[in-house]
Amino acid sequence: MRYGHFDDERREYVITRPDTPLPWINYLGSEAYFGIISNTAGGYSFYRDARLRRLTRYRYNNVPFDLGGRYLYLRDTVSGDFWSPSWQPTRSELEDYECRHGMGYSAISSRHEGIEAETLYFVPVDENLEIWRTRVTNKRDSEAKLSLFSAVEFCLWDAWDDQTNFQRNFSTGQVEVEGSVIYHKTEYRERRDHFAYFACSEPLAGFDTQRDTFLGAYNGWDSPAAVERGESFDSVANGWAPCGSHHVELTLAPGESKEIVFVLGYWENPDEAKFDPPGSQTINKKLVKPVIERYLRSDEAEGAFQRLRDYWSELLGILQVSTPDEHTNRMVNIWNAYQCMVTFNMSRSASFYESGIGRGMGFRDSNQDLLGFVHMVPGRASERILDIAATQLPSGGAYHQYQPLTKRGNDDVGSGFNDDPAWLILGVAAYLKETGDISILDEEVTYDNEPGSESPLYEHLQRSLRYTLHRLGPHELPLIGRADWNDCLNLNCFSTTPGESFQTTENKEGGVAESVFIGGLFVLAAEELAQIAELRGHTDEAKCYRDDGAKMEATVREHGWDGAWFRRAYDYFGDVVGSADNEEGQIFIEPQGMCIIAGIGVDDGKAVQALDSVSDRLATKHGIVLQQPAFSHYYVNLGEISSYPPGYKENAGIFCHTNPWIMIAETIIGRGDAAFDYYQRINPSSREDISELHRCEPYVYPQMIAGKDAPSFGEAKNSWLSGTAAWNFVAASQWILGIRAEYNGLRIDPCLPKDWERFEATRIFRGATYRISVNKPKGVCKGVTQVVVNGTKAEDNLIAPHPAGSEVVVEVTMG
Ligand code: BGC
Ligand code: NOJ
Repeated sequence: MRYGHFDDERREYVITRPDTPLPWINYLGSEAYFGIISNTAGGYSFYRDARLRRLTRYRYNNVPFDLGGRYLYLRDTVSGDFWSPSWQPTRSELEDYECRHGMGYSAISSRHEGIEAETLYFVPVDENLEIWRTRVTNKRDSEAKLSLFSAVEFCLWDAWDDQTNFQRNFSTGQVEVEGSVIYHKTEYRERRDHFAYFACSEPLAGFDTQRDTFLGAYNGWDSPAAVERGESFDSVANGWAPCGSHHVELTLAPGESKEIVFVLGYWENPDEAKFDPPGSQTINKKLVKPVIERYLRSDEAEGAFQRLRDYWSELLGILQVSTPDEHTNRMVNIWNAYQCMVTFNMSRSASFYESGIGRGMGFRDSNQDLLGFVHMVPGRASERILDIAATQLPSGGAYHQYQPLTKRGNDDVGSGFNDDPAWLILGVAAYLKETGDISILDEEVTYDNEPGSESPLYEHLQRSLRYTLHRLGPHELPLIGRADWNDCLNLNCFSTTPGESFQTTENKEGGVAESVFIGGLFVLAAEELAQIAELRGHTDEAKCYRDDGAKMEATVREHGWDGAWFRRAYDYFGDVVGSADNEEGQIFIEPQGMCIIAGIGVDDGKAVQALDSVSDRLATKHGIVLQQPAFSHYYVNLGEISSYPPGYKENAGIFCHTNPWIMIAETIIGRGDAAFDYYQRINPSSREDISELHRCEPYVYPQMIAGKDAPSFGEAKNSWLSGTAAWNFVAASQWILGIRAEYNGLRIDPCLPKDWERFEATRIFRGATYRISVNKPKGVCKGVTQVVVNGTKAEDNLIAPHPAGSEVVVEVTMG
C-alpha cells in the first residue's frame, strides 16, 4: 500500500493522505539555519546546533505523534468552524490533502469546506530564516470571512535545559511585539546576543505570545482558546512559555486568493549594539528589519525559492543517470544524493529518531558521510576533513565524537573505537580522488585541537595507520578496543549494571579482543595510503604500506577465515566470534563486505565462498541481516549487541549501512545480478508498495529494517541520518554503475544485471562534463571491452581528467 507517489520531474515525493504510518519528514536549510518538517507541518528549527540554538520546541515521543510545529489555523467567522490546513494539530477532515516534500522545501495543501490553503515552507540559501508562504483561496460561490492564526512555540535555546529546568525557565521568558513582528528574546538581557523573530506580511487583528493564554490553560494545540473564540488575546509573555501567534482577518470574494507570508528567523546583533536606545532593554532592530521586510514581500520570497531550486539543480546535476530501472534513477539522481547532503548537514543530530539533544558528530560517521557528498560540495568536504583531523589524538587514535559548535573532541565518549582512525584515510582518499587537490595533505592540522601540535594532514594519515599497527592482539589481528564499526560488539566491557553505557563504561583490564573487520579495513586503508604516498612521490613509503597491508591480509587469511566465510572477532578470552563453532552469531555481514572490498580472497575463491554464505545464511527478501543466528539471550562477553531482542538493530536486524558493502563485494567478483538484487531489496523507492509494512519514508534509507527473527520483519526504523545514505550511493553509482573517481581520472567499470542493455550518465568531474553512454549487447555483467573518448579509442577504462569547462563524450562497450 502507498501513501503517495514520486514526482521525479519536480524532484518531489507527494504524500496524499496525512495519516502516514509515521511522520514522514523533510529537511529545510542548507548552511546554518535548519529545520525538520513532517508531512503535517510538525518539527522544529534551529541555528547550527539542534541542541544549543533551538528556536522552536518539539515534544519527543509524544502522544499523539509529532507535536510542535509550524502551525496554521483557519477559522470560518460565520460558522465558527476551524481547522488546520496541514491536518495537525486539529486533525479535521480535509479534502485534497497533499504534502510535497522537495529538495529543501515542503509544500502542504488541502481544502476544507470550499477553502483551499497551500503553504510552502523553505529556508532561502544563505539566510538564517524560514519562509512560510501561504495562499488561501475561496472556492465557494459566496464570500468567505475567515481568520488565519499562526502558531509556533519558542524553545528557550538550549533544548535539553528547556525540557528539564522548569524552576528557572518558567521565569525567564521574554518577548517584544512591534507591528506584525513578534520577537522572542529570552536571555537576551544577559549573555545572549541573539533572538528569534516571527513576522507576518499583513496587518494584524491581534497576536499572542503567552502559550497558556493562546491555548487556554487546559487546551491542547488542537483547540487553542484564541482560535475557538476567533480572537487573539494580545498576550505578552512574561516567563512561562513564550509562543508566537498572529491573527489575520481575511474576506475573500468567490474565487479570490490571498497570499500571506510569514518569516521565522534567527538574528545576532553585535555585542555593543544589542539595545536601542543604548542602555535600554529594547532589542536593537535596525539591522534585522530590512531583512524581515525583504522576505515578507511575495516577489522576494519567490526569488529566494527559485534560487533554492537552482542550488539543488546544480548539486544534483553533478551526477545524473538514466538506466533501465526507475528506482535506481530516482535514488541516484534525487533522493539518495539529497539524503547524503542531509547527513552532511545534520550528522546524527536531528531527525525523528535523533532528538537533536544527543550525540555530537561521529569521527567515523563524518568520514563515511563524506563518501556520499564529496562530489557535490568538495570545498565543504575539505573543511570537514580538517575539522575532523584536528580532533585526532597524537597517538593517531580518535575521539569517537566531536561537538559541532566547538569542534572539539568529546570527553564523555572518549576514544578507543579502534576502527575510527582508518576511516580518516578513506575520507581523505575520497576527497583526493574527487578533486585531485593534493595540497590538502600539506595543511597544518592540530592534534586534539592543541595549538602548537600541528603537523601536515599527511602525517595524521600516517599516524592513523600506525595506530592500528601498534595495537595488534595475540593473533596479530587489530585490537578492537571499545568497539569497531559495530558499536554494539563490546568485547571488553562485561556490563552487568542496568543503564550503564556499554561503550563508555570502564573496559576490562588487559583486553585482547581482536577484530577481523578492522583487519580488512586496515588492508583497504593501507592500499589507499600507499597510493597517496605515490602521489607525493614517496615510492619507498608506499612499498612499506603495501607490505603492512600484505602482512595483515595474510593474518586475516590465517586467523580470520572460518572455512566458508570470514570470522568476526576474537573475544576477551581469545575465543572466536562469528564462526561455525559458535552457537549463535556464527556469521556476521561486516567482515564479508570489508575484507572483500579490501581485495582479500578475491583471487583464491574465498570471496565467492563468503558471498555464497551471505546469500545462504544472511540474505532475506527485505535485505541482508547483520548476523545469524540471532542472539537469543544476553551475552555479557559480547555487550550491547545481545541487548537487543532478536531481529533488531545490530542483533540480526537488516542494518542497511552494511548491505552496500556486500553489493560492492558482489561487483568486485563480477556478479552484477546479485549486487543489483541486494540493491533493490533495501532501495526505499522499490519498497514503496509495502509502505504499510516498511512504515518509514519511501524516499530515504532507514538505518535498519527489522530482520527475520523479529515479529515485525520488514519494518524500517531510524530513517534519514545514517551512513546507509553514503554507502548505498557509493555502491550504486561507483560500483554497480561503475563511475568512479580515482586519483588519476574517472574510471568507468560497471557491473550490471545481465539483462540491462545500456545506460547513460552525465558526470561533472574536476570541472569537465563527461557524457557517458554504456552499451552492453552481450548479456554479461562485467567487463569493458572498448572505450571511445571524444571519438578516439582509449587505452583503457580510466579517463584522464580533461580541462575544466570541457565536454567529454565517452562511449563504453561491455562484452
Ligand atoms: C546504538 C548503535 C549506535 C551507538 C552509537 C547504540 O546504542 O544501538 O546503533 O551505533 O549507540 O554510539
Ligand atoms: C551507528 C553508528 O553511527 C555507526 O557509526 C555504526 O557503525 C553503526 N551504528 C553500527 O553500530
